[in-house]
Formats: sequence, C-alpha cells, structure tokens
Amino acid sequence: MKIEIDEELKDLLNKKSFYECIPDSIIRMGLNENLLIDKYFSYTLLMEAIKNIDTRLYPPAKGYNALKAISEEYGIYEDEIIVGNGSDEIIDLIAKVFVRRNEAIIIEPTFEMYSFYIKLMGGKVKSVLTNEDFDIDVDKVLSQVNKNTKVIFICSPNNPTGKQYEKEKILKIVKEFQGIVVLDEAYADFASYSILMEASRYDNLIVLRSFSKSYGLAGLRIGYGVGNSEIINYLKSAQSPYSVNSIAQEVCRLVLKNKHVYDYFIKLVIDEREYLIAELSTINEIKVFPSSANFILIKLLNYSSSYICEKLKNEGILVRDRGNLPLLENCIRVTVGRKEDNIKFINTLRKILGLFHT
Ligand SMILES: Cc1ncc(COP(=O)(O)O)c(C=O)c1O
Repeated sequence: MKIEIDEELKDLLNKKSFYECIPDSIIRMGLNENLLIDKYFSYTLLMEAIKNIDTRLYPPAKGYNALKAISEEYGIYEDEIIVGNGSDEIIDLIAKVFVRRNEAIIIEPTFEMYSFYIKLMGGKVKSVLTNEDFDIDVDKVLSQVNKNTKVIFICSPNNPTGKQYEKEKILKIVKEFQGIVVLDEAYADFASYSILMEASRYDNLIVLRSFSKSYGLAGLRIGYGVGNSEIINYLKSAQSPYSVNSIAQEVCRLVLKNKHVYDYFIKLVIDEREYLIAELSTINEIKVFPSSANFILIKLLNYSSSYICEKLKNEGILVRDRGNLPLLENCIRVTVGRKEDNIKFINTLRKILGLFHT
C-alpha cells in the first residue's frame, strides 16, 4: 500500500531530527538542559515522589496535583493555570485551539516548535524578523497583523538569541493586538524579570513556563501556562486527560517546596554563563552575544558554523548549529554547562580555531 501524505506536510515530516541518537559519552551543550542541578538532590526528590504515588492509578487529571502546587506557590488562581507534558504540549494545544487553519506571527529567529505545530495544524506562519541586534520591532510586528492573524508568539528570553525584550514592548503588543499573545518564558528564571504574575490581568495573554530548564526536569516533561481563565479553560478542554504523569506531578510539587535550593542552582547557571561570556569575549575570531538564558549565542567570524559544530562533536562536545536560521549566519548556540564542561568547551574551541589555550 502506498501511504499518501499531505504535500504541505512532506517537508515538515521528512526533516532529520537533531534530538535523535545522541551518544551517552558526549558533553551535552546542545539542548539547553540544566546539568548544574545537583544530580543527587534531584534523585532524592524523585525517590520521595515514588514513595508517595501509586502507579496502578491514573494520574490526577490535567496535572491537577502539579497545578495546585503552582497555584499555591505563586498565588495564582487554579483556573488560570494549565499544566502540560512539557510546555511543548501547551504550544501544540494553542496551535490546535487558537490558530487552526488561520495565521500566527512568530518573531524570528526563534524556537522552531512554534512553526512546527502551527504548520502541522494546517495553519500559516508569518515570520517577522527581529532587528539586527535581535531586539523586537513592535511596530513591524503590529503592521503584519491582518484579519486572519489569531496568535502572536513571542519568546523572551528568546531562544536562540538569549535576548529578553523590554516589558513595555511586549505589553504594547498585548494591548494593541486583538488576538492572543503567547509569551514563552521558558528561560525567564535566568533573566531579570518575568510577566508571569501579570498574565491573567489581560484577557489575551498566555505566559508559558517550563520545568525543564531552571528546575532540570527535562526528562520528566512538565511545563505550564498562565492566563485569563477563559483562554485557559479552552486549552484544558482540548487536552488529553492524563498527559502529565503522576511522578512528574509529584516531583513538581516537591521541587516547588524546595524552591530556595533551586534559586541557588539558578544563580550557579547565571555565574557560569557570565564566566563563559567573559572568557569567550577574549577570542577575536568570534562574537559573543549577551544572554538572559542558560545558553549563549556565538558568531564565528572566519569559519562556518557547521564545520565548527562537527569539529566539536568529534572532540566529544555537542552544541547546536543555528547558522540556518535567519540573521544567524555561522552562529552556534551553546548551553551553559558545569564548570568543567565550560572549560573543556573554551579550550576545545580555541584549539579548533588554531589558538593556543591558556
Ligand atoms: C523557548 C522554548 N520554549 C519551550 C521549550 C520546551 O520546553 P519543555 O521541555 O517544557 O517542553 C523549549 C525547549 O527547548 C524552549 O527553548
């Protein structure tokens, strides 16, 4: 039998994924995971969670135990929160419920999953470029809105540029746009501010957060969105009931109970990020951009990004080639690692660039 697939989806579904087949031995600086969280601390919480749950039972529906913990921690009403199997699930739900076959604006270069889920739903992606300095041009974004534009996705701090847009600029879009604004704050814990607590004041804003980055729970898959209860209710109604498993929900609860410990780990990431930026800034062959996230963006001035990524991989370090994205010719994205990973990365990069390492 010949399987027929929608022509429009062929390109989307035939792409080879970066995420597959990463060897165990490699230093992972390509997925914005957080290896600065103490592994033993995570393990202890996981063991405690396992003691508290009964896997013979379905988990609390729609991530309710995690949702309750988030509500209590931040003082946000329960009906203004949706918990998902990673914030990815919520992006997918937004495409399914609010974009559908209409149009959404994304501010590029940015996280690629927005356009993936929009296109999968048969929606149209309108791409608006940032300025050369990666800042958002609010007037340009608003000028692209038409009657089919249902959603504007804003990622801030933006993956992969690390740029956090000014709050006033984001709120201007929220106030002037007549559709839904999604503000993806997956990296906000590493930045100087967040709009999370104000999200439900607006009737058209959804703020997304992830437990994968600042809490190092990428493997458990848990994220959430906050917004006006009407929007959140539509999303919850479209969600499958048990997408967030019981262990993830319980670990989420325990993590929030220990938030002060995570604040310490977050500070470690920020310190390491600044260390990386300071060290790399001394290398003339590259340009290093400031970052408000747990990764940094580097532009190679004399080499192609694909060549450098391949060389780094051969030396046992995985980073992300972003050179194919608009405005990012020959750029690579490097996740902030543990001190020893960062030192190894700096020295290996220097070696590949033909410089003596100090
Ligand atoms: C901007 C952004 N949003 C969302 C996600 C997805 O996070 P999660 O692991 O919660 O699905 C990522 C993951 O890299 C991301 O970079």
